[in-house]
Amino acid sequence: METYLSGIQPSGLLHIGNYFGAIRQHIQLQQEDGEHFYFIADYHALTSNREPEKLREFVFETAVTYLALGFEPEKACLFRQSDVPEVTEIAWLLASVTGMGLLERAHSFKDKVAQGVKPNVGLFTYPILMAADILAYDSTCVPVGKDQIQHVEMTQDMAGYFNQAYGEVFVRPEIRTPKAEKMQKVPGLDGQKMSKSYGNTIWIFEEGKALKKVINRVVTDSRPPEEPKDPEELFLFDLMALFCDEAEVNDWKDKVRAGGEGAPGYGHLKGVIRHGMEEYFASARERRKELMADRGEVERVLAAGAEKARARATEVRDRAAKASGLS
Ligand code: ADP
Ligand code: TRP
Repeated sequence: METYLSGIQPSGLLHIGNYFGAIRQHIQLQQEDGEHFYFIADYHALTSNREPEKLREFVFETAVTYLALGFEPEKACLFRQSDVPEVTEIAWLLASVTGMGLLERAHSFKDKVAQGVKPNVGLFTYPILMAADILAYDSTCVPVGKDQIQHVEMTQDMAGYFNQAYGEVFVRPEIRTPKAEKMQKVPGLDGQKMSKSYGNTIWIFEEGKALKKVINRVVTDSRPPEEPKDPEELFLFDLMALFCDEAEVNDWKDKVRAGGEGAPGYGHLKGVIRHGMEEYFASARERRKELMADRGEVERVLAAGAEKARARATEVRDRAAKASGLS
């Protein structure tokens, strides 16, 4: 039986890249037999957040986002990372068997430093805490976006170092990434990867005038509609493919390729994306509004999730502590 686990950082409003690259997969997987643990990585967020009230609000917003999009707490556990403090103990046990070199090779750390972030120790040891998150529940399958693959591979290495030293304590997790190429790297408004750090995102629950305004910012060029174009060069179609079926997307692509009088302008294509997205998330938006008005319900889900998760993590912590010589 599989044990699925994944986490997401509460670093702001979640965007459609987060949805198609990660959240959607998490929600679909809960239909599979097995155990399911999903958490909101608030310890990890501390490496960059300095505003306590905002952090609390983002955690709440992230929980609401999952629940609105179809997360079923009866089938799967949703909890706050910090409600299971045992993971920080496991992180210490892993830190003690892990070489600096492994962490120094982490792409995401190197990228942040290259972007000019002055790293704290927490950011450097981020992959150790992430490994503890995964190993604490005897997880066998970790569904993540492409950019997290290296972190899960490091987890496999750390489990190996520990087991080599102390015997078979930790279960080696496998990685699962979204199958469809179009979901692995959702483009942002400017055509590069959609990301909070690039300010090019579309919020999952955006609607009406605000949505129209955002979609209008999708970067295009000044060629007129009549001019035949290669649709494969237009990332507009990558966004459209997320919300419209293949036949419809191909139909619009044919029209753009042919050019001439009946060809749609960029504005028209943006309208198609907007309508597609509004419809795609319509019921989730309604559910979100209900949940925002019922904080108690969201807190109850998180508390029940934490109770179950903590029981498992405590067992694993005890097993690891004992193996390593702690009493
Ligand atoms: P951001 O880049 O906006 O800060 P995160 O790094 O917090 O997003 O990513 C959270 C999850 O969403 C990760 O699993 C990541 O792989 C996925 N993800 C983020 N942006 C995209 C994107 N543009 N396309 C596909 N998946 C994405
Ligand atoms: N690092 C992940 C991200 O930024 C979040 C995360 C923390 C995570 N711990 C995890 C993901 C454990 C999967 C498993 O998206």
